[in-house]
Amino acid sequence: MEKRIRKILNEAAKEFESAGDESEIDQLYVKYFGKKSPLNKLTKKISTLDPALKPKAGQNINKAKSTLEKLFDRAKRNVKTKKASATKYIDVTAPGKKITIGHLHLVSQAIEEIVTIFSKLGYSLQSYPEIDWDWYAFESLNMPKDHPARDDWETFFVKAPPNPKLGNQVLTPHTSNGQVREMENVKKPPIRMINIARCYRRQIDISHTPMFHQFEGLLIDKNISIPNLKGTFDYFTTNFFGKNRVTRLRPHHFRFTEPSFEVDVTCDVCGGKSCRICKSGWLELGGAGMVHPKVLEAGKIDPKKYSGFAFGWGIERTISMKTKIPDIRLLYQNDIRFLEQFS
Ligand code: PHE
Repeated sequence: MEKRIRKILNEAAKEFESAGDESEIDQLYVKYFGKKSPLNKLTKKISTLDPALKPKAGQNINKAKSTLEKLFDRAKRNVKTKKASATKYIDVTAPGKKITIGHLHLVSQAIEEIVTIFSKLGYSLQSYPEIDWDWYAFESLNMPKDHPARDDWETFFVKAPPNPKLGNQVLTPHTSNGQVREMENVKKPPIRMINIARCYRRQIDISHTPMFHQFEGLLIDKNISIPNLKGTFDYFTTNFFGKNRVTRLRPHHFRFTEPSFEVDVTCDVCGGKSCRICKSGWLELGGAGMVHPKVLEAGKIDPKKYSGFAFGWGIERTISMKTKIPDIRLLYQNDIRFLEQFS
């Protein structure tokens, strides 16, 4: 009988200890003190014992009952203190949880900066479709039908029935589609527009991504000439890159500007002396030129009265000239270790 009692007490101790809340303890109470409890069953067996053993057995059972009582009280107390410490006390010495704060993507930061600089010169931000008709992307810009940019190999064409007047739809390969659209919107110059949009070309390498951003500037007014264009670029360059950087114009060819230029900025690594990165002291920013009379005509603006200039530069490229990003594809890999360097 003693063995049996010890077994019951051991089991009860384990169960009371692992009880998680008060209702579990109450259930254990019923199990160990109720009518069908193991100790009660033993009590009933006392009558079957040898009379000499009876008193001892009775004593043992009573002792076991008071032990169980203690186990019960202790378990109740434990649960109560556990609950109290969970609700009432805050460990003020515990290290705090770090809140991570996000920031704008480098491209969005550059867009904000570019818009701010040009708005100081009176340019207003416009946005034009990123999927546009061939007319706005090519034809109205004086680009002949067999121009390489109008090839499947260069531009993404949308599979949709063409518009009889405006032609096929394309994912715009440049922001120049905004030029004639802006002339149509404003109708009468002056025009000072900056158009920022995503562009798409079939190209991917260290300095190209199939989706990228351009910012297009268009200024049309009376008596606009190349010095206005050069002054604007110098203003942008010193504000965006820093006072020690200068630009130069290099003759080039675009169908929608005449004359046309490529705009270079002095390399920030060697300061224009020529180094391993720039090879000539200059880095190419993008295209520009005086708006072609045919483009003004397409936008119903009289080329005899008005003239203007336009430029279209890649934002990712412009950023990489300021922050020395070795591969612009990094901008779109969503690697937080790269992106968080530019907060
Ligand atoms: N659209 C040209 C390009 O993507 C850039 C450009 C814009 C050139 C405006 C001249 C004038 O390369």
